[in-house]
Amino acid sequence: MRMTKPLNIGLIGYGFMGRTHSNAYKRVNDFFDTGYRPVLRAVCGRDMEKATAFAAQWQYESVETDWQKLIARDDIDAIDICTPNNTHAKIAIAAAEAGKMVLCEKPLSMNVEEGERMVAAVENAKVPNTVWYNYRRVPAVTLAKQLVDEGRLGRIFHYRAQFLQDWTIDADLPQGGAALWRLDADAAGSGVTGDLLAHCIDTAIWLNGSVRDVTAMTETFVKERMHNLTGKVEKVGIDDACAFLCHFENGSLGLFESTRYARGHKALYTFEINGEHGSLRWDLHDLHRLEYFDHREESIIRGWHDVHVTDGDMPYMDKWWVPGLQIGYEHTFVHHVADFLTDLTAGRATSPTFAEALQTQKVCQAILASAESASWMSV
Ligand SMILES: NC(=O)c1ccc[n+]([C@@H]2O[C@H](COP(=O)([O-])OP(=O)(O)OC[C@H]3O[C@@H](n4cnc5c(N)ncnc54)[C@H](O)[C@@H]3O)[C@@H](O)[C@H]2O)c1
Repeated sequence: MRMTKPLNIGLIGYGFMGRTHSNAYKRVNDFFDTGYRPVLRAVCGRDMEKATAFAAQWQYESVETDWQKLIARDDIDAIDICTPNNTHAKIAIAAAEAGKMVLCEKPLSMNVEEGERMVAAVENAKVPNTVWYNYRRVPAVTLAKQLVDEGRLGRIFHYRAQFLQDWTIDADLPQGGAALWRLDADAAGSGVTGDLLAHCIDTAIWLNGSVRDVTAMTETFVKERMHNLTGKVEKVGIDDACAFLCHFENGSLGLFESTRYARGHKALYTFEINGEHGSLRWDLHDLHRLEYFDHREESIIRGWHDVHVTDGDMPYMDKWWVPGLQIGYEHTFVHHVADFLTDLTAGRATSPTFAEALQTQKVCQAILASAESASWMSV
């Protein structure tokens, strides 16, 4: 192991993502040899008691209850934004202006205009930045990228993705506030489009290139819900379900669907790519496997290969256990941190940068505009 420099982390938000990122910072140097070592300098949350309990559990050195104070601290190098979507822009812009590196949860922003200001802020300040589209760093998905880039599928005809959940079917579920901010358009920006399809779109752009235009439909099945912050029954402003068609710049056709009303599905993110020579498919519920079909194989053995992505020559896997033993969801965040630290050492940007994540935001915005106007929208 080489000598490492400390990278002082200030984490904002101690919910679901606060935990996955903290775990990643703690684990990364145990498995990856990078030039930097994250130091859990401070966690920030509005509730002092809860933030203090989180700091004790994850061994953060200090606690802040105001993110502006955290950003002003000289002993913080990088701000990690793990708060709801409506806070990303103001925190990221202030952090960049203070000269801090910024790691921001997805989606980048509430809309394209905010995202553009965020990109301008990190680019003007020349601070390293990245957005946590973590599914790129599932080894099987990274392997899919390698196979596509090697040209094994040939010309791509179709890209198909779904992200299905079932947790908002109950009409009595309130919207807004802790844990339920995703149902509140003011906090989330959109529903499944920004929350779930954004993941599918990021992966799709990475694997298959830019999206040219889209046509979409959205639906809000439960039109009114009690709002936790106001105590009143209020109109629901998010999309509960969204399906869209698109053209990619490479001429292939895209078909995407996401809903929180698919009974029986918790986080069924799947994609399939069909090319001239072969196809690939992946399923988050079985994330360590990549299915691959190559038409050029001899016909008597031709068929779908179920590749168990655990061998040492597969992406990231030489850093973990031995062939045959799989890793899981939390490792995608460890990989993202490892890549960020390695890129920092090499003076390179870590993909997706804010500028790259803005492309996903543009597709999301075009989808919502298309559903609204019932017409094709260019991106
Ligand atoms: N990469 C992924 O797969 C993935 C998965 C889940 C969530 N996310 C994203 O991560 C972000 C957070 O989601 P989550 O699931 O962790 O939410 P969460 O509700 O579990 O946690 C949000 C945290 O932010 C805190 N918070 C809210 N407003 C704040 C403020 N003004 N100042 C300080 N703290 C504040 C809350 O108290 C809480 O600790 C969202 O942008 C979400 O889209 C990404």
